Amino acid sequence: MKVLVVGSGGREHVLAWKLSKSSKVSKVFCAPGNAGIANDAECIDIAADNYEALASFAESNNIALTMVGPEAPLCDGIVDVFNEKGLKVFGPDKYAAQLEGSKSFAKNFMLKYNIPTAKSGTFTDPKKAKEYIENEFANGETAIVVKADGLAAGKGVIVAMDKQTALDAIDECFDGAFGDAGYKVVIEECLIGEEASILALCDGKTIISLASSQDHKRVGDGDTGLNTGGMGAYSPAPVVTEEINEFIRTNVLDNFLRGVKEEKLNFHGVLFVGVMITDKGPKVLEFNVRFGDPEVQAVMSRLESDLFEVANAVVDERLDEIKLQYIDGSAVCVVMASGGYPGSYQKGFTISGLKEAEADGAKVFHAGTAFAEDGSIINTGGRVLGVTATGNDIKTAINKAYKAVEKINWDGSFYRKDIAYRALDRLK
Ligand code: AMP
Ligand code: GLY
Repeated sequence: MKVLVVGSGGREHVLAWKLSKSSKVSKVFCAPGNAGIANDAECIDIAADNYEALASFAESNNIALTMVGPEAPLCDGIVDVFNEKGLKVFGPDKYAAQLEGSKSFAKNFMLKYNIPTAKSGTFTDPKKAKEYIENEFANGETAIVVKADGLAAGKGVIVAMDKQTALDAIDECFDGAFGDAGYKVVIEECLIGEEASILALCDGKTIISLASSQDHKRVGDGDTGLNTGGMGAYSPAPVVTEEINEFIRTNVLDNFLRGVKEEKLNFHGVLFVGVMITDKGPKVLEFNVRFGDPEVQAVMSRLESDLFEVANAVVDERLDEIKLQYIDGSAVCVVMASGGYPGSYQKGFTISGLKEAEADGAKVFHAGTAFAEDGSIINTGGRVLGVTATGNDIKTAINKAYKAVEKINWDGSFYRKDIAYRALDRLK
């Protein structure tokens, strides 16, 4: 069977790589892909937002299944285009993708179906939003979170540690800093605790979670500096104990599935739940309707089950037949980024050491790379590589990943040195 992956980041690389390992898959295509994906799939020159061209490609090449990586095409309705043509596609339709695309849609869903989350208010009037903030601080809140309602490429969330910052954030949103996304805001109680990522497959009838993981959102060691798309991840995340996992299954995932059924959502894909483990139990920070990046690099590296069979079962509503198998031990993904990220950075530097890095069994997933004219591989994005390794325990996985990282270099490249530190702290 032939499969198509849509996207060009690290997430799409790991999906293409994992699909290529399936005995049922004869060929993996990726549109548009990148220089690393080209090792595991045939990259085709169709943009991820050219839905008609992608669907035509799938039709004329007999693609058995298309997996959509990023949120933008999902929120924009790629699944609706494929469904209309009777093509099999992994991901929710445009309406259901609002669970990620609109914070207020997601919040309403959580409230309606009793999913634990932060207390919040939704506003389209900046004056009312500011009154709400004044009130919350008058009632003893010491921090608050302002979220632009729509997709804002991960930048529309401001965690304000004082009232003035929160009030300024409202002005910023309504002044157009996040485009249309800012004209409606969700203001949330600030949750304190440790974050974890839960990925769960859902076919509309059944929901099953994948192994837990944890991202590292801040750019600097010790969780300092600006927020990024994620500087590294590991799986499993020991903060998600058996007990917490069970709580999430019952209170988040089962309630989510009830909502999907009652609202008749077309949801054949993955739900990625950002959870804060507070001292009052886990609370949902956000829903996403695609795999977390770089979480999925770590999770898929441990998954033994055939991803094609699993994804196909999701699309065919046979998820109840699937039992996921993992290798024992842990996986760690260290992101290497371009100097200056998440601010501006220079592109076009030649990356050295890619082959050497994989010599001892690590895998280098590419996020922002391309081929230069001379055939060498250059950096083209902020997050460039996700160097991933597995091991019998977390320490072995960390050491193996960093040994590989140290072999890779380009001008200005950097990475966090403390990926998985929370898991290590728990061993002390
Ligand atoms: P979101 O896009 O809603 O996940 O927000 C991005 C990041 O902002 C999260 O991963 C958290 O680190 C932080 N965040 C979001 N909501 C809250 C909240 N209510 N309390 C504390 N931190 C939050
Ligand atoms: N790693 C967080 C995300 O994919 O949104």
